[in-house]
Amino acid sequence: MPTIHFEGDDYLCNEDETILECMTRHGVLLPSSCQSGACQTCLIRAQEGTPPPESQAGLKDTLKAQNYFLACICKPTEDMSIGLSSISPRHSVKITEKTPLNESVVRLRLAKPDDFSYKAGQFINLMRPADDLTRSYSLASNPDDDFLELHIKRVPDGKMSNWVFDELNVDDEVVFFGPAGDCFYVAGKPEQPLLLVGTGTGLAPLFGILRDVLTQGHTGPVHLFHASLAVPGLYLEQELRDIAAKDEHFTYIPCVLHGDIPEGGQQGNIADIPAQMLGSLSGYRVFLCGDPPIVNALRQKSFLAGASMQDIFSDPFVFAPHEG
Ligand SMILES: Cc1cc2nc3c(=O)[nH]c(=O)nc-3n(C[C@H](O)[C@H](O)[C@H](O)COP(=O)(O)OP(=O)(O)OC[C@H]3O[C@@H](n4cnc5c(N)ncnc54)[C@H](O)[C@@H]3O)c2cc1C
Ligand code: FES
Repeated sequence: MPTIHFEGDDYLCNEDETILECMTRHGVLLPSSCQSGACQTCLIRAQEGTPPPESQAGLKDTLKAQNYFLACICKPTEDMSIGLSSISPRHSVKITEKTPLNESVVRLRLAKPDDFSYKAGQFINLMRPADDLTRSYSLASNPDDDFLELHIKRVPDGKMSNWVFDELNVDDEVVFFGPAGDCFYVAGKPEQPLLLVGTGTGLAPLFGILRDVLTQGHTGPVHLFHASLAVPGLYLEQELRDIAAKDEHFTYIPCVLHGDIPEGGQQGNIADIPAQMLGSLSGYRVFLCGDPPIVNALRQKSFLAGASMQDIFSDPFVFAPHEG
């Protein structure tokens, strides 16, 4: 069984145990959130020993070369000495705006630090200052904005989201680090058709990407499907309709599973609607964000409808496993 050396102590890692699980079992709490390799909160560096390649999935080559890896998906195969990551500086910023977008989604605006840069569609890891509880939230703002915008949904019994709704106020300080994620638009192929599909707050990164795409002069059609169980779960409807009225390349399709159908919208399973409406997705660039099972179904269906896997970008909003 491999031994993990961390800050002067040795910890024995059980067979089939990740480094994050091993450290937690020994009472050492490393930063973590999704615990499934999606959010990069648990990024850590091997000072000695080689991390298994699968623990570096999704990391930039520059990080891999420096032996960074994700503790939550690292089942060590040899003794390792590890040290906390110092590559992602923490930013302490004020909340400048808190506005409800519908009954269960709030818009937070944070002051943008001068030394922070990102691409529209990436996410940051937000920390609750009192106890360093960390969760990932996608950026709905555009790098040109002088604020950072998040759309946060209240989750029943959710620790971070309920704190944001009930206790966090304008002028309070929060801490964040990042950005991370590769669900963003890269200029080139301006005529390529784009498909953007989001469920719930999956609209956040897509709203940023949409504004980025239109600013960068994309000339191909852009279809945005925003899905919710029913009409009250939709938000930013008017803003999206206004953009569609001004820009002939852009189509907004609000979708619901049941109840009233919004104007110009669709009812049914969002995993099926885009391919049913658009037909072949051959040649499309596709962005999928939100509920993990739906994002995974949409990836598969987009591929089967003709989109190339390398043109499909996704951010499943994986949540931390239930405790206890
Ligand atoms: C890359 C990435 C980007 C994300 N972007 C956003 C975003 O822009 N907006 C946003 O609102 N969230 C986003 N999330 C999800 C977010 O990080 C949190 O998981 C979410 O806010 C719940 O945190 P919590 O502390 O309130 O709930 P927790 O205390 O972590 O959850 C308590 C329990 O509630 C259940 N649960 C948690 N989340 C959900 C859910 N969404 N649906 C159903 N059950 C759930 C689970 O059983 C969980 O164990 C993103 C996640 C990832 C990985
Ligand atoms: S990637 Fe490890 S906790 Fe999210």
